[in-house]
Amino acid sequence: MDSNTDAQRMEKIVSLCKRRGFIFQSSEIYGGLNGVWDYGPLGVELKRNLKNYWWRVMVHERDDVVGMDGSILTQPAVLRASGHMEGFADPMVDCLLTGKRFRADQLEPQQGWVLNFIGAVDFDSFNSLVKEQNFPERSAIWSRVDLAPLLRQIFTNSSWHVDEKRRIGYCHLHDQFVERKEALRALIAERIFSASSLQPFSAMDIVGDRNSVTLSDARQVNPAIIVAQEFYRKRGIRNPVVMLTNLQWTEHSTRYNPENGSLLTRPREFNLMFKTRTGPVEEFDQSAMAVSAVGATGPAAPIAPVTASAAESFAQTAGTSVIAEDTSPAATTEDASVAYLRPETAQSIFVQFKNILEVSRKKLPFGIAQIGKAFRNEINPRNFTFRSREFEQMELEYFCRPQRGMELLEYWKEERLKFYENIGISRDNLHVRNVLDEERAFYSKGTYDIEYDFPFGRQELEGVAYRTNYDLKQHQDQSKKSLEYFDEESKERIIPHVVEPSAGVDRTVLALICEAYAEDEAPDEKGNMETRTLLRFHPRMAPIKCAVFPLLKNKEPLVAKAKEIVNLLRPHMFVFYDEAGAIGRRYRRQDEIGTPFCVTVDFETLGEKNPALRETVTLRDRDSMQQERVAIRELVNILTSRLH
Ligand code: GAP
Repeated sequence: MDSNTDAQRMEKIVSLCKRRGFIFQSSEIYGGLNGVWDYGPLGVELKRNLKNYWWRVMVHERDDVVGMDGSILTQPAVLRASGHMEGFADPMVDCLLTGKRFRADQLEPQQGWVLNFIGAVDFDSFNSLVKEQNFPERSAIWSRVDLAPLLRQIFTNSSWHVDEKRRIGYCHLHDQFVERKEALRALIAERIFSASSLQPFSAMDIVGDRNSVTLSDARQVNPAIIVAQEFYRKRGIRNPVVMLTNLQWTEHSTRYNPENGSLLTRPREFNLMFKTRTGPVEEFDQSAMAVSAVGATGPAAPIAPVTASAAESFAQTAGTSVIAEDTSPAATTEDASVAYLRPETAQSIFVQFKNILEVSRKKLPFGIAQIGKAFRNEINPRNFTFRSREFEQMELEYFCRPQRGMELLEYWKEERLKFYENIGISRDNLHVRNVLDEERAFYSKGTYDIEYDFPFGRQELEGVAYRTNYDLKQHQDQSKKSLEYFDEESKERIIPHVVEPSAGVDRTVLALICEAYAEDEAPDEKGNMETRTLLRFHPRMAPIKCAVFPLLKNKEPLVAKAKEIVNLLRPHMFVFYDEAGAIGRRYRRQDEIGTPFCVTVDFETLGEKNPALRETVTLRDRDSMQQERVAIRELVNILTSRLH
């Protein structure tokens, strides 16, 4: 499938998700909240089916795994020990023109002509100088002996283009950039220009001819010049003439915005954790100020929080010691009230390791499983729910002796691949990437990424990592509480190692929807072929398992029988009753949301035509569209056997 078709496919999937109530943008009626999603009536069923199946396979069907449900609000000490405080950051760059933020490591390297500018001056001043240079004796500026040499520095051996109509232009200074910049600086100091800037800027021509740059054609000003004009306009020069120096052919560069060519800032590290506060901190003015800085989504400009040094200077002026005696509200509330929304569920498993070990009395190897929300202030949430700021994880920490780490890494990789196949994801669309040494966390001895072929490319669904005993060791060192395990075999105390399969609920839901989305041909009511959109969910995952229809809604015995069947099936599965519209339309509506089975109650069910068919219904299969006649008393058995 080519990329255009893939983009169209993704668009159709997103639109179906909204139209049929799988996924909506969060806070949509207020303009939405970027990177945050709400699941509608069908989405929540799909998500629950996935989580329940994961829990069944990973916890209930095993003797060696127990579950837990940890809190989202997390003590800073936990995240300091885990390394999230220091190291959980992405490099971030901003577009100097639009302010749009990008993850530096996700920018595709580009090539093109880069145009460098030393500044800009306002059009009217520049245009007057251009016009007056031929008659210097009549010009108040050109005639000045102190200014003329400076002006000649700018205008000799330069080329310029000014657009009188739009009052905009550029001046290409071909050489002697240092001297010319100094001349420009001196002219600006003499207030020759009514507006000016000496802020350097550069832009890449991302749309122009890759082999030659047209600068002088009035009809076709280079796009990088237009970007530069916009840059200086935003810095207060309403009608800028931009001062261009050199042009460089540049390859493999990630310094420019791929959308407009503008220069980006240098990468800065941006911590992805959401900080918040516990307790009634808003009582105090200063802390309230800090609250406005936290809880913001997206890499917002930091508002100075109440810092230790602020508290310290307060204490010093008051002649007290910060540590022992400062009781100012700012100092006492700051540290104690700060908490973080957890960036992964794993840490609460490590922190509760000892408690769970004691209560469960498990022996190595054993695991602790958890499903829950995690939060990351992603710089660029994208690809629908794929990269969100609020999402759910399904994580298992499987503790073992060090000797078994690598073997269990292989074991869990295979188990997890089986899991995906069992929920209906084809093995052909799953890929295992052996994460390279240089990409892996320093403490991991081996990591696999399980990837899926999404319409927007091959991307990670789950990581399976052998994390050694790094996490437990860190928490033991920092908390000063023993997290050791007494190994009865070796009669030694050890800090267990761990293998972690960590999957994303939302990513897997998205993969399930992408995998299931299909279009085929089916006859309409009149027998004409039409395109049918369907979701071929594995019955295990399908939000609604069976839809029940009376053939006609105005025939009471048909309606009563259909409702009787709904009540019969309801204890076993999620059933949907529908009597509205032609039967063909009702089938289509169910196909589109992935309901694998439809049961129709017709006149045969009532035994009106053939008494032998009394108490039978048609059972229609979504994928084959085949219908079979089955006895109502068999229905529960038939359906449950096909659902699991
Ligand atoms: N405890 C290990 C850990 O959290 P991770 O690779 O950062 O590892 C594990 O995350 C999984 O969580 C990913 O494979 C992905 O499925 C999901 N995930 C991570 N960040 C996500 C995001 N911003 N949006 C949606 N899912 C995300």
